Amino acid sequence: MPSKPVKKKKAKAVKKSGSGKRAAPPSGPKSKTKRLSKNASRAEPVAVDFHPALRLKDFSESVIREQTRLAALHGAVNLAQGFPDFPCEPVLKELAAGAVAHDFNQYSVTWGMPALRAAIAKKAGAYNGITADPDRNVTVTCGATEAMICAFMSTLDPGKEVIFFQPFYENYHPDAYLCGAKPVYVTLREPDWSIDEKELARAFNRRTAAIVINTPHNPTGKVFTRAELEIIAKHCSRWGTLVFADEIYEHILYDGATHVSPASVPGLEDLTVTISSASKTYGITGWRVGWAIAPARITEGIRKVHDFMTVCAATPLQEAVRGALGLGPEFYRDLADHYRRRRDFLIGGLEAAGFPCHVPKGAYYVMADVSHLVKGSGRFRDDTELARYLVSEVKVAAVPGASFYRGGHDKTISGTHKLRFCFCKKEETLALALSRLGAFKGLNRK
Ligand SMILES: Cc1ncc(COP(=O)(O)O)c(C=O)c1O
Repeated sequence: MPSKPVKKKKAKAVKKSGSGKRAAPPSGPKSKTKRLSKNASRAEPVAVDFHPALRLKDFSESVIREQTRLAALHGAVNLAQGFPDFPCEPVLKELAAGAVAHDFNQYSVTWGMPALRAAIAKKAGAYNGITADPDRNVTVTCGATEAMICAFMSTLDPGKEVIFFQPFYENYHPDAYLCGAKPVYVTLREPDWSIDEKELARAFNRRTAAIVINTPHNPTGKVFTRAELEIIAKHCSRWGTLVFADEIYEHILYDGATHVSPASVPGLEDLTVTISSASKTYGITGWRVGWAIAPARITEGIRKVHDFMTVCAATPLQEAVRGALGLGPEFYRDLADHYRRRRDFLIGGLEAAGFPCHVPKGAYYVMADVSHLVKGSGRFRDDTELARYLVSEVKVAAVPGASFYRGGHDKTISGTHKLRFCFCKKEETLALALSRLGAFKGLNRK
């Protein structure tokens, strides 16, 4: 076995350095190695040959969070990152303060506090049509973000493929690369972000281990219909493909759209990891409480990764989210209404400022068309250059459309003629952004 000689060599090197002769040189260029003196206190520091781990090579930092940093740097209105700039409901603050005061202050059971898991399972039955046992199927995580990466890490081996609908939420891509899986893209077709069934069928093969379904969808606001989910279910059943269902906007729906959880569709019950979180529903993105609901055999792996990655989500905030899950139906009605008003206000203003918009059916983002400013207009090279200009000069931050695309086989698909704006902001914040974009339109005409 090849490991034996390596072990012997190591032992010898340790012995040498222990006897005060010469320590084994660090790996790296010869010129950087230093001769160590017998007197350790006079030894010069050893040059460290550092390079980031190879698994980081295929992705860069989050464009959304980069835009947020640029917004802060330039004093711009931040319509890039999806978090509210208004206070959360007073009842939520009372729940969190009460949990700390009542001493929910130590590690919880790693899978999540039993009372919170019971509340999540109850809600999954009542709202999502999913039967879940709190002890076997529910894991509480640090947000949907951690639930998703736990799902990836616990089920995908290097070389496996995972299907993404593009445009897609930018976190999924690094999740795939971190576990050595290969992303495969299926494009949602404009103007209604529909699925091309032939393209979908082509994406599946014997290496396909998972497909990510985000409904309601960031960034398009698409709400997947039951009929679409049934088509996906047919392929998943055929190829034994898991579904990672990101349902974080499940309560933010407009114009009579209804949320269908993939796990409630026949054929997907035993294949689906249902992921959600308190972040968007309760406007508390900083609390970092989310969950994964999955068949017991998948839950075991998710819990294993979660335990060693974070131990548990913040205990007092788990207790507060347990209380939040008990809020009545009027809370959810008001929530959708609150965002629908903002959606209509932002779209009206963007269109007046010359940005035609797709009207979302769910979530709180708008994809605006900026073709007239980028494509052969001579004004801006692409969406990224335009977004940089808007944040630094116009003082409005949005996300370049290309960051939600990878193209795959079809190089004409890139998102470079789009910007994403979010509307989970105070009305005065949206009004300020729109007045700046209106002035930009004026300048742009000259
Ligand atoms: C689709 C989607 N999933 C997950 C998240 C992050 O969720 P969490 O705050 O629960 O980690 C976001 C945040 O914007 C999102 O848009």
